[in-house]
Formats: sequence, C-alpha cells, structure tokens
Amino acid sequence: MPRVLVSDTLSEAGLALLRANPDLVVEYAPGLKEPDLVAKIVDFDALVIRSGSKVTKKVIEAAQKLRVIGRAGIGVDNVDVDAASKRGILVMNTPTGNSVTTAEHAITLIMSLARKVPQATASMKAGKWEKTKFQGRELTDKTLGVLGLGTIGRIVADRARGLHMKVIAYDPVLTPDRASSLGVQLVPLPELFARADVITAHTPLTAETRGIVNDAAIEKMKKGVLLVNCARGGVYDEAALGRGLESGKIGGVALDVFLQEPAPADHPLFKFDNVILTPHLGASTEEAQERVALEVVEQVVNYLATGTIVNAVNAPSVPQEIAPKLGPYLDLARRLGAFLGQVEGIAPRAIEVECVGEPAELGAKAITRAALAGLLERFFDEPVNAVSAPVLAEERGIVVREVRTERRGKFANLVALRATEESGKLVVAEGALASDGSARLTRWGDYELDAELFGHTLVLFNEDTPGVIGAVGTILGRENVNVAQVNLGRQKGTRQSVSVWNCDAALSEGVLDEIKKLATVARVASISLK
Ligand code: NAD
Ligand code: MLT
Repeated sequence: MPRVLVSDTLSEAGLALLRANPDLVVEYAPGLKEPDLVAKIVDFDALVIRSGSKVTKKVIEAAQKLRVIGRAGIGVDNVDVDAASKRGILVMNTPTGNSVTTAEHAITLIMSLARKVPQATASMKAGKWEKTKFQGRELTDKTLGVLGLGTIGRIVADRARGLHMKVIAYDPVLTPDRASSLGVQLVPLPELFARADVITAHTPLTAETRGIVNDAAIEKMKKGVLLVNCARGGVYDEAALGRGLESGKIGGVALDVFLQEPAPADHPLFKFDNVILTPHLGASTEEAQERVALEVVEQVVNYLATGTIVNAVNAPSVPQEIAPKLGPYLDLARRLGAFLGQVEGIAPRAIEVECVGEPAELGAKAITRAALAGLLERFFDEPVNAVSAPVLAEERGIVVREVRTERRGKFANLVALRATEESGKLVVAEGALASDGSARLTRWGDYELDAELFGHTLVLFNEDTPGVIGAVGTILGRENVNVAQVNLGRQKGTRQSVSVWNCDAALSEGVLDEIKKLATVARVASISLK
C-alpha cells in the first residue's frame, strides 16, 4: 500500500480525508527538520507539506520510493523542484485555495496602515489615549498601485475598487484590455511608482521582481506612500525600505513576508513605529487552510491511484474531466516510445511527436512527455516519467518538438513518433487506440500493422515467404512459450515483412539464438512493454 508522510501541520479535514482512505498508510509527523526528514522519507511514496518542511536535494536523494510531493499552498520555494524533477517526482501545489484569504490580508494591512490600528492598540494597552497621534488617512479616491495582477492581485484590485480606490497596476504579462476589463489601468512601472498613494505587491519572487521596490523606485514615489508586501520577502529591498522610512519619504510599511523567515528579533525595520508586521499570516484563515489541505490531499491521492496530474509545477496538468480520456493516449505514447527505443536501439538527438485529432485536442504536451519517457527509459535504471523525461532530454541536448495536426491519413486519431540519430537516421512509429482502449502499433517505418503494444514482445524482420511463421512458432512451442497474438506487416513491392509476436513469457537467449539462425529471418528483437 502506498505510504503518505505529512511533515507539516495540516488541517483536520485534510488529515481526516487521508486517514479515511483504506488504500493508504498515513503517518502524521509535523515539524520534522531536514535531518529527521532525510531519515524518515526513505520508503514513503508521497509527502504532504505546507511551508515549514524544507524538501532539499538531500531529502529528495534519500527518498527511495517518493512519487509525489503535495504542497498545501502556492509557494514551492521550500522544495528543490529541479532535484525532484530529475528523480521523476511530481511536485503539486494548490495555487488558488488561499488566494481570497491572502487578498483579504493585503486589504487588512492597507487599512491598518492607513488608520494605524496596531499602533493605537499598543498605545491603549499601555494605558494611553492618544487621539491626535493616530490620526489616519481616508482611502476613498486614493490610488492603489498593484504590482502583479495575477490571482491575488486581481482580488485585491476588486476589493479596493469596492473601497472606491482608483486601481492602477503593473504586470508585464497582461494586456491593457484584459486589465481594463477588470476595472484596472495598466501602467508602466515608473508611472505606478509616481502615481500610487498605496502600493501592494502580488508577484512571485523572480530575478526580475527581486528588489523591484528599491532606492531608485522609492525615489520616484509620492511622499508618505504606504507600502504593503504579502507576496514574498525580497520583492521589496528591506534595506531600502529602512532608508525610505528614515528619510520620511515612506509613510508606512506593512510586511507579512520577509527575506529571512522567521524574521530575526533584531530586524532593522522593527524599530519604526510606522511599520506593521504579521508573521507570514497571509494564508492563515481556517477556511483557506481547510481548502488547501483538502485540495492537496485529493490531488495526491488521485495521482497515486490513477496518475492524474493536477496543479503540478513540474509537469503539464490535466483537468479532472479530461484525465480519463487522455490516460489511454499517454499509455499509447509511452509504449510507442518504449517500442521504438528498444527495437531500433537508437540514441536520439531529435524527437518529434505528432498528435492527430483527439490526442491533439486532449493534451499534446503531456503526450509528448509520455512518448519521450518511453523512448528514454532504456538508458536509465531509475524510472523515467513525464516529470523527469524533459529534464533528462534537455540535459543531453535532445531537441523535442510537439506537433498538433487536425486530420491526416487513414486514422482520425493518431500519435506519431519520429526520432533522429546523430547520423541523420530517422525512425518512425505510429499508434492508435483500439475500441477497447488498447494501444496498437499501426505503422513502423514503411510497414503498416495492427499490433498490440503489450508485454513480452518478439519483433522479427523476415522474408515474406511461406513457412516463416510456422518455423518460429515451432521453436517457441518447443520451448513452451505461449503466443497470445501475432501481427504481420508487409511492404508492398518487396519480399520483406515484419512480425510482432505478443508472448506470455520472456524469451531466453537460447530461443532467440535459434530464431536468429533461421535463414528467412534477417533481424530479431525481444522487448518488454510494461
Ligand atoms: P499568480 O501567479 O496568480 O500572479 C502573479 C502575477 O505576477 C502574474 O500575473 C505575473 O504576470 C505577475 N508578474 C510576474 N513577474 C512580474 C513582474 N516582474 N512585475 C510585475 N508583475 C509580475 O500568483 P498569486 O497566486 O497571485 O500569488 C502572488 C504572490 O503571493 C506569490 O508570490 C505567492 O507566493 C504569494 N502568496 C503569499 C501568501 C502569504 O501567505 N503571504 C499566500 C499566497 C500567495
Ligand atoms: C503560499 O505559498 O501558499 C503562502 O505563502 C502561504 C503558506 O505559506 O502556506
């Protein structure tokens, strides 16, 4: 039975869903530090985390059976995703489960900054009544600048419009039309800095966003600007914030996220009265925690049971409703890749996967990855899957191309795989699904076939003359190898044919040697299509 380790605190609802599954063994061990996680992870199939667990390369290398890491929340900055991908481990998150909660936190911080609620609370608790000191600012008609108009940025923009704020935003990926349909004016970054009374960040931390609010940006801002960061520590340059507060250019800062978390008690920004802080509470509501826990558990359980990939950060996701239809094509593509790789024995330099008809509509990207995994698996002793295959291909300089075609040839729905060697040699296999959903090889090179891609398979290049099938069948019979089906393909105008034999058992070297000795057989391959 698959074993699932939960190494961070998870909402009761999520845990209950996991524990109610009779097909899983679940261990709840929140708060494991790296060395304990390294020791524990060895024989677990799945790991469920929040932001506390650090899933480092060491942890991933220690995991012998791990297939999936599920993060309840969006950020996977606590997971070494590259190391996971190399080992074929899927990393999933729940990108929207806590968006509303986080947006509400940003609005809370904006209002708290404008009305100095935390400072007034502290003052009253100290026995004071300081009405003048805590005079605030109205937000109506003020301009909010949103950095990053993604899921959370849009909710913040919507709520801010409800407060009658004017909303402007900077997001290089969005079109002005899309932004204006959200009631937001898209502006260049310097204009946002110059016009906003309040700025709130909702971008990921990337090379481009790191320090996007720095000394130069603060220089451009209005005097008294209020700055909020509920995204990731580092989007605002903390040292520059200190200088802006010191000079009086910045009117107040609210931070939920920090360069170093937990933030040290002697953090230089803590001394400012107009700085308000929360310890990464953006997603911390009961509702959001329950939602992300349920989402991640469902995703992980489905992946373990059916291979359905939803919200993966290192593999193409498939919507739940498409997964049952796409699954057989993924299987077909992987088998086609394994067939071609084993039969032709080539070291591919370029691979092209063409999806015709239904597979093109359902998910050419996922199908391409599956074909690639099948083709490359013979080079590795660890399993190669849709997660690790593109990484392995890229590391080896293999060029991968995906082609979608509406219709061609005699099959309405088809997957075609073409692989080219360094020498320029091109090998081709095409396949389709039979009405029972089984994967069929419909073309191999110049030969048309209808062979099931399954199990222990004997592949022969033989002369198209009477007696060949009988001779091979006699050898197999003598060795007690049962043949489930044989399929023949012939090349018109030649005396060559190929035959694909589905056998009930693997063939011994002795049997293969005997078949190779037949004068009518030019080439023999014995392959395994799991
Ligand atoms: P998202 O991917 O939906 O949106 C991010 C947006 O940022 C995208 O629209 C993208 O185009 C934009 N962007 C990327 N580079 C940019 C740049 N250089 N300048 C301006 N915009 C840029 O993500 P989301 O779900 O909205 O989350 C936003 C951030 O909030 C993430 O960093 C996430 O980790 C963080 N987050 C924090 C908490 C918390 O507890 N504080 C909770 C959830 C999410
Ligand atoms: C996230 O990445 O989802 C947020 O930062 C909240 C969390 O830490 O879980």
